[in-house]
Order: sequence, then C-alpha cells, then structure tokens
Amino acid sequence: MSDSSSAPSDSALFSLPKAELHLHIEGTLEPDLVFELAGRNGVSLPFASVDDLRSKYEFSDLQSFLDLYYATMDVLRTEDDFAELTRRYLAKAASQGVRHVELFFDPQAHTTRGVRLETVVDGIGAALDEAERDLDISSGIILSFLRDRPAEDAEATLMAGLSRSERIIAVGLDSAEVGNPPGLFEDVFARARDEGLRAVAHAGEEGPPEYIIEALDLLQVERIDHGIRAIEDPALVARLAAESIPLTVCPLSNVRLRAVPVLADHPILRLDAAGVAVTVNSDDPAYFGGYVGDNFVALRDALGLTADDAARFARTSITASFASDDRKTALLAELDAWRG
Ligand code: ADE
Ligand code: ZN
Repeated sequence: MSDSSSAPSDSALFSLPKAELHLHIEGTLEPDLVFELAGRNGVSLPFASVDDLRSKYEFSDLQSFLDLYYATMDVLRTEDDFAELTRRYLAKAASQGVRHVELFFDPQAHTTRGVRLETVVDGIGAALDEAERDLDISSGIILSFLRDRPAEDAEATLMAGLSRSERIIAVGLDSAEVGNPPGLFEDVFARARDEGLRAVAHAGEEGPPEYIIEALDLLQVERIDHGIRAIEDPALVARLAAESIPLTVCPLSNVRLRAVPVLADHPILRLDAAGVAVTVNSDDPAYFGGYVGDNFVALRDALGLTADDAARFARTSITASFASDDRKTALLAELDAWRG
C-alpha cells in the first residue's frame, strides 16, 4: 500500500490480511453445491434449477432469509458434505485475505433432522485442518444456539458439543432475534463459560439496543455480533467504546436483510468514529452477494472507506479474535507489511 488516505484498490482490499469473526458455515452453501449435494444424497429439492434457487435470494427481513437458509441446508447429510462445504468457503476466504476464521455452526439445525453434532464438527474440522496445513489459515469453531428454540434445547446442545470440546472455542446465539432476548439463555451461557468456552452473541441486528445490553450484562459475551442498532443509544455506544467491546459487523448482510436501507446509510463508520472497535465480516456470503473482501470493497464504494480505515478494521479483527497471542503477533506483522 502506498497512499493510506486514498481509495484502496479491490486487490489491495482482497490482499489485506484479516480475520473473519462472523461467518455461518451453513451460510456459505452456494446454489451449485446445493444441487450437487442433493444429487449425491438423493434429496429432492423444491427448486427447479440453480437459477431458480438463486432467484429466491430476495429477502424482506431476517426471517425470510432464515426460512430459505434452514431449507437449503437439508442437503447437508454426511461428514464429507460438511468438509466439502467448509473447503469451498476456505478457498474463497483465502483468495480474499482471510488468515484466521472463527466460524459459527448451528447444531440444532442439523440434529433436529437426524444429523449428529459429531458428524458436523468432524467434517468441518477436517477441512479446517487441511486449511491450516495447506493455506496457513488458523481457525476456531463457535457452537451457536438457536434463540428461537427453548433454552433447554440449548442446554442439551451444549452437552452434546462438549464431546468435541477440543474443537469448539466459544458459544454463540443466533436465528430470529426479535422476541427472543439474550436473557433467556443466561444459564446455558454461564454453564458454557464454566466449561472454559468463550462467549459471543448476535444482538442489535434487528433487535433493539437493550438486547445488546442484556448480552453484555447477562451472557457476559466478549464480542457482539452485528450490534449495529447500538447507534440508536449514545450511552451504549459510549459503553462499547469504553469497555472495548468489538462488534462483528456484516455490511452486505445488513442491506440484504433490510436492517439498513442502503449501504450509504450504514452506521459502521459512525460507530468507528465514536471509538467502537468494529470489524468487517460476511455473515452468510452465499446469500448476501459477497465474501469478506467484497464487503470491504462495497464499503469503499458506498462510504469512502480508506486504506487506513480498512487496516484499522483488519487490525481489530485480529486483536478481537480468540487466536493465540503468537498467532496474533504473526498476523499483525503481516498487516504491517501490507501497509508498507
Ligand atoms: N443465522 C445465520 N445468519 C444469521 C443472521 N444474520 N442473524 C441471525 N441468525 C443467523
Ligand atoms: Zn450472523
């Protein structure tokens, strides 16, 4: 990089070394792989073709997306399916500068249709091991509870997850937000933290700023996923900044799910200017029109993101990750080299 205050090129933003901290592995399921796996597993699909499926990627809100997201993942059946899904994501991520990833999976979306948690974790884990070896991408897996299912289900899911505790670094909370506040999951998060797991939660995507406060106070999370509605509460913005609570922001997702009307209105730079630690992520890239590098490019185009901004967000993604101190030091050195 040379001029740090000018518009960075696409290739500079793609080569920017970064960590991706908000990525649902099931949200990387591209339409062509849906059809490939349906053929392999003998699953009949309610879509006529890849193009027909792609035409359904018009969402009015989070729930309209979740309906399709849970339907398409029915093609994921075997350990190999999850490995292939993860492999394809990692190849794409590597080409867009991802050096470390902490990915969510939704065990309840699989166990409820007869796919064991171990099958999912072992498949994802095999691909993550390959990526560590072949692409030098480090990683962790976040077990995410579905907040629109009862807390007792989350408890059982945590217990099942502990059978793969060496693979799982944290617990998370996702799915339909409004009407399902974080406080419902206080006990299971306490149990997870007692087991040595880190904690994060989706909050303030569609839900109100109060849900972000609950996630901090009741779930004691270390990061907030999305968190963009904090912008409506100046005291909360001040608290996030003072307590250095990182937000894993997903710009293209927020536009596609209509949490913000257009990218030019996105609050990410206002949160950053207020001192909040923000990172850029892709959420469900197969559904929202772009992987993490594409999200940086879109921010440059819509909001004038500079090379300095991009480097700051990438630095935060590394420091806010759950990677080891040695890995963080190595990645920060790569970032310094990128800045030149
Ligand atoms: N599950 C997958 N993507 C999600 C999102 N953006 N919000 C809540 N739950 C999700
Ligand atoms: Zn998400």
